[in-house]
Amino acid sequence: MDLGIRGRRALVNGGSAGLGKGSAKALAAEGVELYITARGKERLEATAEEIRRDTGATVVSIAANHATVEGREKILSVCPAPDILVGTCSPAPFTKDFREVTVAQWEEHLSIGLISPIEFIRATVDGMCERGFGRIVNISTGASKFPNELRTLSGPPRAALSNYTVAISKSVAKHNVTINNLLPGMHHTATAEQRFGELAKERGITYTEMVQEWIDEWRIPADRFGNIDEFGAMCAAFCSTHAGYITGQSLVIDGGLSTSTF
Ligand SMILES: NC(=O)c1ccc[n+]([C@@H]2O[C@H](COP(=O)([O-])OP(=O)(O)OC[C@H]3O[C@@H](n4cnc5c(N)ncnc54)[C@H](OP(=O)(O)O)[C@@H]3O)[C@@H](O)[C@H]2O)c1
Repeated sequence: MDLGIRGRRALVNGGSAGLGKGSAKALAAEGVELYITARGKERLEATAEEIRRDTGATVVSIAANHATVEGREKILSVCPAPDILVGTCSPAPFTKDFREVTVAQWEEHLSIGLISPIEFIRATVDGMCERGFGRIVNISTGASKFPNELRTLSGPPRAALSNYTVAISKSVAKHNVTINNLLPGMHHTATAEQRFGELAKERGITYTEMVQEWIDEWRIPADRFGNIDEFGAMCAAFCSTHAGYITGQSLVIDGGLSTSTF
């Protein structure tokens, strides 16, 4: 199905790896003019080149930290008026004991996971309303809906983001501007591969065995981790012209792990 977004400008913050990269690739395949950001320049350039080669899309890379004021200014000076805004970051470190979480860590993760997406929305949403089209997707975390002590730094900032986005989505919906959150469970991404690779090494087992142990322990019904391409396709679907009546939602994508009626 044609998603109807050919020629739209899409900004993907955190687009050089993981779920952001999967989303950037899927959007580029639909013919958007793509802007991707990340802190690390080398991986960012490599990803931009890979997407250009695979999709033929125009891809502009912007090396910047979207969690800082300077980084946001840099990104918005290059891409001030996106029609599609996707934002993500790296998973926060696991917190084995909530007592050990420091104020500095709270400040860091509130900046990355809450203030950054809020500031990008504030800076771009009025232009979307004026143009009569806007799609905003925050790649958040399943932990925002299903709290877990291991994810103390990950869940609470993004639970607040879901709350904020539901509230503000109401005032822009009539302009064909939607704001939604995707809440991933476990996926094979750059950071997941690094973390599970290290754990596997410590245990003297393979990455695949380590992942399977986690799947068994957490009882993921799909019996696998997700991959960035299937996630990216869902993100692109939320950015499509056809998704104009879906807003203020937070969709869990976790292989069936979470259990509730709705
Ligand atoms: N992977 C999973 O299994 C999993 C599970 C639950 C939730 N999630 C959530 O899914 C989201 C994405 O995770 P992921 O595993 O795809 O992460 P990832 O593999 O680490 O990729 C994160 C991307 O964001 C960029 N990035 C991170 N911080 C940034 C910043 N401050 N400014 C600019 N770019 C930044 C990274 O590049 P640079 O490092 O070069 O900046 C990279 O391109 C996160 O919200 C995470 O909490 C993931």
